[in-house]
Amino acid sequence: MEQNDSLIPWITRRDLLAQSARGAALMSVAPYLGHAQALLARDIPAPRVRDSFDFGWKFLLGDAPGAEAPNFADAAWRDVDLPHDWSIEGAFDKDAPSSGNGAYLPTGIGWYRKSFRLAEADRDKVVQLEFDGVYQNSEVWINGKYLGLRPFGYVPFCYELTPWLSAGGENVIAVRVDNSKQTNCRWYSGSGIYRHTWLLTTNQLRIAYWGTCVTTPQVSAESSVVEVKTMVVNGRNTPAHCTLTTEILDKAGRVVQLRESSQAIAAGSNFEFVQRIGVDKPSLWSPAHPDLYTVRSIVQDGSRAVDVYDTSMGIREALFEANRGFLLNGEHIKLNGVCLHQEAGSVGSAVPERMWERRLELLREMGCNAIRTSHNPYAAEFLDLCDRMGFLVMNEAFDEWRHAKGQMKNGYNIYFDEWHERDLLNFIHRDRNHPSVVLWSAGNEVPDQFAPEGAETLRALNHIFHREDPTRLVTVGCDHVYSEPPNENARPEFLAGLDVVGYNYVDRWLDRAEKYYSIDREAFPARRVIGTESEGMGGVRGDYSRLFPHSEPEGARTWNRMGENLDVELLWQFVSTYDYVAGDFMWTGIDYLGEASWPAKGSSAGVIDTCGFKKDGFYFYQSQWTEAPMVHLFPHWNWKGKEGQFIPVTCYTNCDTAELFLNGRSVGVKGYRFPRYGMEGHYGNLGARSRAARTTSDLHLTWDVPYEPGTLKAVGTKDGKIAATMEISTTGDAARIHLVADRSSLIADRRDVVHVAVEITDGQGRLVPAAISPVSFEIEGEGRLIGVDNGDPRSHEGFKAKQRSAFNGLCLAIVQSTAKAGTIIIRASSQTLESDALTILSKA
Ligand code: GAL
Repeated sequence: MEQNDSLIPWITRRDLLAQSARGAALMSVAPYLGHAQALLARDIPAPRVRDSFDFGWKFLLGDAPGAEAPNFADAAWRDVDLPHDWSIEGAFDKDAPSSGNGAYLPTGIGWYRKSFRLAEADRDKVVQLEFDGVYQNSEVWINGKYLGLRPFGYVPFCYELTPWLSAGGENVIAVRVDNSKQTNCRWYSGSGIYRHTWLLTTNQLRIAYWGTCVTTPQVSAESSVVEVKTMVVNGRNTPAHCTLTTEILDKAGRVVQLRESSQAIAAGSNFEFVQRIGVDKPSLWSPAHPDLYTVRSIVQDGSRAVDVYDTSMGIREALFEANRGFLLNGEHIKLNGVCLHQEAGSVGSAVPERMWERRLELLREMGCNAIRTSHNPYAAEFLDLCDRMGFLVMNEAFDEWRHAKGQMKNGYNIYFDEWHERDLLNFIHRDRNHPSVVLWSAGNEVPDQFAPEGAETLRALNHIFHREDPTRLVTVGCDHVYSEPPNENARPEFLAGLDVVGYNYVDRWLDRAEKYYSIDREAFPARRVIGTESEGMGGVRGDYSRLFPHSEPEGARTWNRMGENLDVELLWQFVSTYDYVAGDFMWTGIDYLGEASWPAKGSSAGVIDTCGFKKDGFYFYQSQWTEAPMVHLFPHWNWKGKEGQFIPVTCYTNCDTAELFLNGRSVGVKGYRFPRYGMEGHYGNLGARSRAARTTSDLHLTWDVPYEPGTLKAVGTKDGKIAATMEISTTGDAARIHLVADRSSLIADRRDVVHVAVEITDGQGRLVPAAISPVSFEIEGEGRLIGVDNGDPRSHEGFKAKQRSAFNGLCLAIVQSTAKAGTIIIRASSQTLESDALTILSKA
């Protein structure tokens, strides 16, 4: 297998390259000549080039028979940049074929075309076109030659273009996207080439596509072992004597370890190198310290570097155990998880990376450390963000296997038999090197869990997962582990086939609601268990109509739970008490489009709305999942006409006690009693925390307060000292617009975005809680408006309009940079309000 292994420890590539005058510029392409002393930076063309293929496309909404022909006249088609989602550009229509599943937005058929030239020098190269995701049923042609069909809209795929390319001449890619077979998804999918595309040019002797598999078979803070399997392809018609040098670079870019192996590879064949590399005193990857390494694979043919390929990785050990739940690097961590869907409100499924970064920043602020990619593969950059930001990911493949779910007529079940293996291979090969991914989920609530041959299907899927990634366990989100007749229970052989049994809504049925996992724990003590999905603290942001249900006209009431959801609190008490439950993924972290009934177009299950505005439920999780002292009070305090009526005021806090004041008068001190501390050291000693006022076993505090205008204030204490406060005041009428941007500058790359929140305030700058003022936007300079939203699940205003009504005091504009550096001025106005503007710098 391996030959000529030589281990050269602790040499920094930078030191070596410093010996070369041109070293710095050639960092990524410098050929490695086999021994440190011989490492020379030589002026050769980059052996591997991966260019974005996102810009300069033509798009037509509708079918265009013959549009695959290279000379087809597309001049009248629209110019678009990818990622592009045509559904989100349309109007909401109660009768849309996508139904409430697809947010009542249009679907149908669309075509994309793009021309490009290949340099004459690349004539002998291998050229591949990568699609990160196309929804759905994409068909691709190069210069009129059919490359293939891909039904599953969430999977990445790649075509080799080489044999049909004209080097030096014009080449045309045509893509037909068919999302007309509705309904095919239970939530909003979007339509089109909604993820990135890439043109990859390599030499014939190269590392295979997704050709590295990096694992960490031994992990400790003293020393760890990294195993790198590298598939090298010799696409030439002559044998190659190939040397593979694998370097491990730390986050500062220093080579901390390397290994060299050589192998003769016959013409037209592949060889998999397996290298084990020790790393002393590694920085282990964890949510608190998401330190990444780079595995740099350098393929040489003789003394010439023919490929250089980087794989980002983290050194960590992730274990699920029956007794101790989840362990990362030997330490018990509870998965404080949220389920998500991949779209992001007003931009639909074509989500700029910064939007997911901001959403993950919000979830981290809430104390969330784990994400379930419900119920499909996400964009590649989402997992890169999770790696960098320290989220643990349960990476899910499918929402349907062989058996259809009632909510879809054309779901994945119709493709499953023919496509599942290819789809899974791409999914696993793309994602298996991410340290953030700690668990695979093969499916969500698949009816196969109680079908006679379901266990066999699971076995086949497990086989693929374990063959392609021997390091991670597999679960399925099962909603029928136990259920009442006439429902069927998941078959015992199905549950026995799961590495980790995933429970969706463990507290759904009868007395199990109180006993949660404990019944199964007794019956199956060796079972690893995790809450793959459970109810969250959703509701419509800022909607408190539940406070006065009897005074609302029939039908006006919303499904707002107002955050007083006792079931969520009780389940969390159980999950956090018992280590054997690895964690819980609540439904959902963020509101999403689809899975709605008209007039709603989206689900308000999230604790953050589609704009990224926090709801009260956000603070429930923050109170349970974070340590920094916080108090959060609700509802707002604008109840004109309800003077003297009792209003339940609720507080989420992680302080020992909270005291509520109304206009300076105390309404009482309260504290909740969870966790309940036992005696310490000697009999009768209950410890300082137990002496604080304990007034409830719930995980929230409430006071019934007779309404009078003014100021409510909560004062939280820890260990007897004031640790956090929050005030809410009765406001005046809406008077001004106040703009708040999430950043003051962005990158001029046609991709980066700034989120501009619009707050409707009174004359004193206080948010007016029920304001619904219409707001118009004007953008000047090097930016363009790509979406407006207000988080109201029932609003039918267009996401691509230049105006938006505020909803409960807030709305949002998303502005994207152009390719040119400069300033962007964002103005927001409304007829009766003082307007506001801000300037953002777009940098090269
Ligand atoms: C679950 C399902 C989710 C979503 C949710 C709505 O059963 O897994 O995808 O449909 O219900 O409450």
